Order: sequence, then C-alpha cells, then structure tokens
Amino acid sequence: MSLFKDMLKSGESIFQDTVVLDFDFQPKVLKFRENEQMRFAVAIKPLLQDSNGKNLFVFGTPGVGKTTACKHVLRELEEETEDIFAIYINCWKENTTFKIFTKICEDLGFKFIQQKKTSELFSLIKNKLNKGKAVFIFDEIDKLDDFDFLYTLLEDIYRKSIFLITNEKETYEKIDKRIVSRLGAEFLFFRPYNQEEIKGILEQRKRYAFVSGVWDNEAFNKLAEKTAKVGDVRVGLYLMKESGSLAEEKSHKKIGLMHVDEAIRKADEFQVKSQEGLDEELISILDLIRENNDSKIGSLFEKYQEKGGRVSYKTFTRKIDKLKDGRFISTKQDKLEGGGITTIITYGSEKKLTEF
Ligand SMILES: Nc1ncnc2c1ncn2[C@@H]1O[C@H](COP(=O)(O)OP(=O)(O)OP(=O)(O)O)[C@@H](O)[C@H]1O
Ligand SMILES: [Mg+2]
Repeated sequence: MSLFKDMLKSGESIFQDTVVLDFDFQPKVLKFRENEQMRFAVAIKPLLQDSNGKNLFVFGTPGVGKTTACKHVLRELEEETEDIFAIYINCWKENTTFKIFTKICEDLGFKFIQQKKTSELFSLIKNKLNKGKAVFIFDEIDKLDDFDFLYTLLEDIYRKSIFLITNEKETYEKIDKRIVSRLGAEFLFFRPYNQEEIKGILEQRKRYAFVSGVWDNEAFNKLAEKTAKVGDVRVGLYLMKESGSLAEEKSHKKIGLMHVDEAIRKADEFQVKSQEGLDEELISILDLIRENNDSKIGSLFEKYQEKGGRVSYKTFTRKIDKLKDGRFISTKQDKLEGGGITTIITYGSEKKLTEF
C-alpha cells in the first residue's frame, strides 16, 4: 500500500483557496509598498482639508504592485470618508475621452446616458464632482488614444488629485505640453522588488492558497528565485497555481521540483497581463492567433474575415498592435518568397519565462 501513501484521495485537494492566486485579488496587507502608499495618501490629504490635491505620475515595470497599491489607498479612503469620489479607470478598456466620460458617468450612478455627447457627459460629471472632491486614477495610460479628457478635468474640476499610472517613464513626454504644465505632477517610481520581498509576497499567498505543508521547500525556493529574476509577482502567482494543478492532476500530495519545472516550461505561453482589459473583439482575435500560431498577418486577416470579422485591414492591424503592446502576442518581420516583407504573429510574450 505504501505506493499509494502520497496520493490524493478522491475529493482531496492541495488547494485551500485558489482565489488568492488570481491576478486581480486584492490582498488585505500590501507589504513593501508602505512608502508608495504614503505618497498617494500625502497627495490626497489636501482634499480632506478642502484644498486642491496633488497629482502623481506613477511608473514601474509590470507586476510590481502599482495598481494594487493604488486601489488599496482608494479602499482606505472610502472607509475614512464619504466626501471624496474615487474614480478608477483602466485605459486599456477606456481609451478615448468619450469612453472615459461614459465610464465615469456610469460609476457616478447616472442612467440613460447612451445618447449623450462627450460634452454633455462632462457637464454631468462636472456638476456632480464640483459639489465635492475627487480622486482620479488613470491606469495603463500608455494605451490611451487621446489625452483630451485630462485637459478638461484639469481645467474644470476644482478639487481633485489625478494619478496617472504606466510602465515607462517616457510616456510622460508623450503628453501634450499644455496638459503637462497644468498637471504639475510629482513622479512616483515603483522600484522592483528584491528576491527577499518577492519571496515574502509569495509566501503570504501560499499560506492562504494551499493546504499547509504541501510545498516542498526547495521547489518553492526555485519558484521564488525564478519570479525574482523576472521581477513580476504575477509570474510567481501563475507558477504557484500551475504547479499545484500539475501535482493534483497526478494525484500527488506534495508539490515538488518536478511540478515547478514543468510549470516553468508551460509558462512559455504565459501572458504578462490578465485579459481583463480586453474587449470581446480583441479576445476573439487573440483566440484566432492562438489557434493559428505563427501565421502571416495576411492569412490571419483572411481567417478573421471567414469567421465573420468585420473591421478593415487597417483597423485589424491596429488591434494586432494593441495586443502586442499588452504582450499578449509578439510579431516579427519575415521575407516573402517573391520579395516583400510580411509580419508573422506569434501567441504569447516575446521573452519566454524559461529564458530568464
Ligand atoms: N507588495 C505586494 N504584496 C502582495 N501582493 C502584491 C504586492 N505587489 C504586487 N502584488 C501582487 O502582484 C500582482 C500584480 O500587481 P499589480 O497588478 O499591482 O501590478 P502593476 O504594477 O500594476 O503591473 P502592470 O504594470 O503590469 O499593470 C497582483 O496580483 C498583486 O496582488
Ligand atoms: Mg497595473
């Protein structure tokens, strides 16, 4: 019987709660980002004293806690006061002034806004927000198609803090000078976590996600090391979930090196971003790319049309660029037989996890 000693019985699981491994899960305590959260709080503080808040330009590489830290502060603010409207916009989803104003109106509880123009939407926002104060968070601002809404908010909303979040510091230079001078933002850099910190963060999740004692120490250390090299906490969360699932598939009671190694190999398909910010059209194009991996862009477009896709080739290529920006796919140039150049589209991010 000892052969079966370490096997899971039916109904047994090594997971306790997989939700805590989700990318969008908000941990109760956000360690190692105390200073950054304090900077958010200091920027908002003047609003509590009825003067104008400060604006911040927040930047740092993927998966270092920018979004999470910001949402954390908003949550605490909501617990503290009802006088400040907190508005969070993901600019991947809402990438134009019109979409942003529509979303803000929805969040502020306005109904029947479908037929309204941009200026009408803004009137609603202005009337409501100027009776109080507001904190705006615009996340992933490098995905914006226009920055006009910022100008409008800066000019016409009186008491507010605006936080802009992005990966690259250079994004700041792309913002219109008239907006930059009105914004007068302070810079807030999210430095990468060191290995100890990454390990600490993953340990914390491990305690809630798994039944105690299922992880082999060496295996977990390897996972943490790998994650620290990439610097993106999401990689660690992904690997933990995947390693656990692989062990369970094999009915193993313990998660060991073999599972972690396999998870790392599987992670070649890993996407750095969650698909949360993608609209239906982008998700269906992404699915098409996965089904037809390493295709030429032209033949991909044909397949897209066969499946009933309606947008023009030009718009299609723009959507491809968007997926590439989000590192859902990568592209490379290739020579055509009769001369000329085509683009090859590959599912997944350019740098494979196994290459780190
Ligand atoms: N200090 C921390 N403590 C606990 N969890 C963390 C911490 N930092 C990051 N995480 C977790 O890592 C994941 C990624 O964090 P987050 O989404 O905030 O990254 P980001 O910096 O906004 O990345 P991106 O630039 O790709 O949007 C989330 O699941 C988050 O809960
Ligand atoms: Mg983010």
